[in-house]
Amino acid sequence: MDKFVIGGGRKLYGSVRAQSAKNSVLPLLAASILTENTVVIRETPPITDVASMAEILRGLGAEVRFCGEDVVIDSAHAANHSIPSSLTRELRSSVFMLGSLLSRFHRAACAYPGGCDIGLRPIDLHLNALKRLGVKIRERDGFIACECETLRGNEIVLDFPSVGATENILLAAVKAEGTTVLYGAAKEPEIVDLQNFLNAMGARVQGAGTDVIGIEGVKCLRGVEYTPVKDRIEAGSFLIACAICGGEIEVSGVDGKSLGLLLHKLRENGCKIHTKNDKIKITSGGRLKCNRRIETMPYPGFPTDLQAQVTALNAGASGDSLIVENLFETRYKYVPELIKMGADIEVRGRNAFVRGVGKLHGATVSCGDLRGGAALILAALGAEGVSEVLDLSHVDRGYAGFERKLAALGADIRRVRI
Ligand code: UD1
Repeated sequence: MDKFVIGGGRKLYGSVRAQSAKNSVLPLLAASILTENTVVIRETPPITDVASMAEILRGLGAEVRFCGEDVVIDSAHAANHSIPSSLTRELRSSVFMLGSLLSRFHRAACAYPGGCDIGLRPIDLHLNALKRLGVKIRERDGFIACECETLRGNEIVLDFPSVGATENILLAAVKAEGTTVLYGAAKEPEIVDLQNFLNAMGARVQGAGTDVIGIEGVKCLRGVEYTPVKDRIEAGSFLIACAICGGEIEVSGVDGKSLGLLLHKLRENGCKIHTKNDKIKITSGGRLKCNRRIETMPYPGFPTDLQAQVTALNAGASGDSLIVENLFETRYKYVPELIKMGADIEVRGRNAFVRGVGKLHGATVSCGDLRGGAALILAALGAEGVSEVLDLSHVDRGYAGFERKLAALGADIRRVRI
């Protein structure tokens, strides 16, 4: 168990490059078993979610090797179609494996998925879509068993643009007989990345990034070497860190368009933002005005994965703010921890009413989930005095070397083993 000891109040200066996107790498790892040839995913961040996904692939019989920043997957001898419940519960993304296992073996079994404790997170949209492709599903005692004779392309309508369901449908339909048309798809950049990856393997997918995706089934897919898109959520977290602390940093690797609403909100706070190609520069005086209202929405709306971080920002700014969380029911579990740092926040259902107190103070706080944990770290960087941030395992799921990158920007942050 590790903790961060953070001395607040240092301004941030310098440049930082975003890691490859966690939410892209995980579905790409799931997609790697669609071929018996070797797949290389370049610049894979050493986060624990990637390690868990590698364990799942090994459990299926695939060879997974980490060579520097690359991960090499060879699933020629994969034969197992069942994911042990210990691994499924640890990582929600294991649900994508249903689509790729069905493509590869026409059978798949796993326990109900886990992941961050941020709400109900049902998988009905995934399962109903798989049924539309001809999959028979049995559910018993929290276990899901799927099988089909062949996968058959079909029209699928998603009632809500679920990121995971969209990705699962792509993975299941890519080698199905005939064509699948998905209406109401999620439009996240990571879905475009999955389309590009699959097409580089020989798939015929088009339309990702819009709400209609067409997938023409192909007989087989080949190996690929691929560099995933960079992590807009990690990049956004650094920008918010600089906004809170003051200073000037440049984040590279991420197109400003994929963070459009965050950049707009940071300007509202009083920061200066400059974008060019894949670089975003932020300048902050450190004394911020609250955003009047931020409401999370599916892409291109404001990302739920940055909700906690902007709430931390507003908690230490001046004025009043309303944050509305529309994606997950219980994504405010970090709020009591922010209150220990002097924040004035009242949560009522999906709404968090934030009265900015101007400056937070150091405290000992615990991370309860990945992005809530990141928010506490950012709050501590801007707070007066020393903070201890406990339960870092949640943060290590998604941020590689977070403290190293922040320290290189001038933050006073150390990891301590306890
Ligand atoms: C993905 C991201 C996560 C992000 C989220 C929303 C990955 C690995 N994770 O999660 O970081 O916070 O998108 O941008 O990419 N829902 C259902 N039934 C379903 C599926 C989803 O009701 O079958 C609901 C969920 O409960 C939630 C909403 O849809 O309220 C969004 O979920 P979804 O887009 O599926 O998120 P994930 O794919 O789990």
